[in-house]
Amino acid sequence: MAQTYLVTGGGRGIGRGICIELAKKGFSVLINFAGNEKTAEETKALCEQASSSPTQQFSLIQADISDPLQREALLKASFSLHGRLDGLVNNAGIAPKQRFDFLDMPQESYDRLMDVNLKGPIFLTQLIANEWKRQGDLSEKTIIFISSVSSDTVSLNRGEYCISKAGLSMGASLFATALAPYGAYVFEVRPGIIKTDMTSAVESKYDALIASGLVPQVRWGTAEDVGKTVVSLASGNLSFSTGTVIYVDGGLHIPRL
Ligand SMILES: NC(=O)c1ccc[n+]([C@@H]2O[C@H](COP(=O)([O-])OP(=O)(O)OC[C@H]3O[C@@H](n4cnc5c(N)ncnc54)[C@H](O)[C@@H]3O)[C@@H](O)[C@H]2O)c1
Repeated sequence: MAQTYLVTGGGRGIGRGICIELAKKGFSVLINFAGNEKTAEETKALCEQASSSPTQQFSLIQADISDPLQREALLKASFSLHGRLDGLVNNAGIAPKQRFDFLDMPQESYDRLMDVNLKGPIFLTQLIANEWKRQGDLSEKTIIFISSVSSDTVSLNRGEYCISKAGLSMGASLFATALAPYGAYVFEVRPGIIKTDMTSAVESKYDALIASGLVPQVRWGTAEDVGKTVVSLASGNLSFSTGTVIYVDGGLHIPRL
């Protein structure tokens, strides 16, 4: 039976890229989605096409990670559907519906982003880690948080997104420290500018910034770039690393003069 990873928000974008790359490398995947079942079905079909072994399984689990009851249901389904759970990729996340200057940031948008981008992954991870602990089975388990360069880069027109991702980065460090004695690995992946539905509204703005040298590798990142990174972390080859931050940003984070 192949190792199984749960990927939150796997219906499209970066989450889909992660599911496909895991499938290519022999993993089974539990594809969590919140609303759009059709795109989640498409991800499942793409995983099936990408897989190479009949022992791999791909299943859909509908759950809104911002809802505590749905997180509980997601926990139960994740441990029962494939009979094993080896890793968790906290990918699901949202951008503000509207961009406001930081001094006018609305509380409603702040609350929504905290619920989805921060509380959701933190408390889902807590549930799953505690279940592994209860089963005496934390050794070699891998938890990956998809944060963002916004964890440490200011964007004044989406402060709530930056704060949620900065909190998630600290969450990754906290889980890494708490779970290291049990043999579990925790990693944080910080994507830069990745071409997905999330960034489609600001595509021309980023096209110009990338062309002008903002990203040293002078291109957009892809969901596949992030997926390949997750697979590397899931390989078990980073055996003396935990709490490690991996930028997937074409060099965007490098301070330059
Ligand atoms: N696109 C980028 O440039 C970029 C850069 C850095 C970090 N990220 C992060 O990567 C992750 C994926 O982003 P993306 O660009 O693929 O976005 P996307 O909007 O294309 O996909 C996000 C996915 O998460 C799901 N989702 C949203 N809320 C959910 C919830 N409450 N419960 C379960 N699923 C939910 C959506 O349905 C969707 O499938 C996010 O955490 C995002 O913050 C994206």
